[in-house]
Amino acid sequence: MTLVGVAWSVFYVARNAGAFSPVVYEMGETPAEVLARVPKDDSMSPMRRGRRLYGTYCAACHQWHGRGIPEQFPPLTQSEWVLASGPNRIIRIVLDGMDGAVTIRGQEYNSPMLPWRELLNDEEIASVLTFVRCNKQWNHAAEPVTPEQVRRIRSQTADRTSYWTAEELNSVPESD
Ligand code: HEC
Repeated sequence: MTLVGVAWSVFYVARNAGAFSPVVYEMGETPAEVLARVPKDDSMSPMRRGRRLYGTYCAACHQWHGRGIPEQFPPLTQSEWVLASGPNRIIRIVLDGMDGAVTIRGQEYNSPMLPWRELLNDEEIASVLTFVRCNKQWNHAAEPVTPEQVRRIRSQTADRTSYWTAEELNSVPESD
């Protein structure tokens, strides 16, 4: 291979591998700066947009592999919350956060997840949750989430100022 060829393939691998690396908060970064790093390309499918958003906003805690970190951050893979018949509860979790004890796949967790209501719009929340519910690499095949579903729950819960607890969410029907 010529030198140019070698240089090109290094560049190619570096660029394309980048799409899979988790983009996480840098120390001191503002939400607006994080937002500015997310490409705004509406031609991307919800799964592709969702994957990128997941890397930016969720992977820091739930990890790229989706299995979380034992005793700190719960798994999304094979989570009964994620794979519920509908997204009513997980839309609420992403909008307004979650705190308090919760048991997922037999293990207890109890640390806060921050709210994303002000940072992510309806389409972004729908895309990231579609990625999480339909990710084949996690053997997930639930129904996708639509921006309309997010919009409706956002307005129904517009007055909410506190994080959800598992106990409260259990009284919300999984789907309509
Ligand atoms: C700061 C770390 C953190 C970030 C970032 C985060 N979460 Fe969470 N998430 C948590 C914790 C902790 C819980 C459990 C809360 C509790 O103990 O009540 C949780 C719970 C959940 C649950 C329900 C429980 C489960 O495991 O299925 C879902 C679904 C979820 N998060 C999705 C997301 C999505 C989607 C994003 C990105 C938009 C995200 N989270 C970002 C920490 C985080």
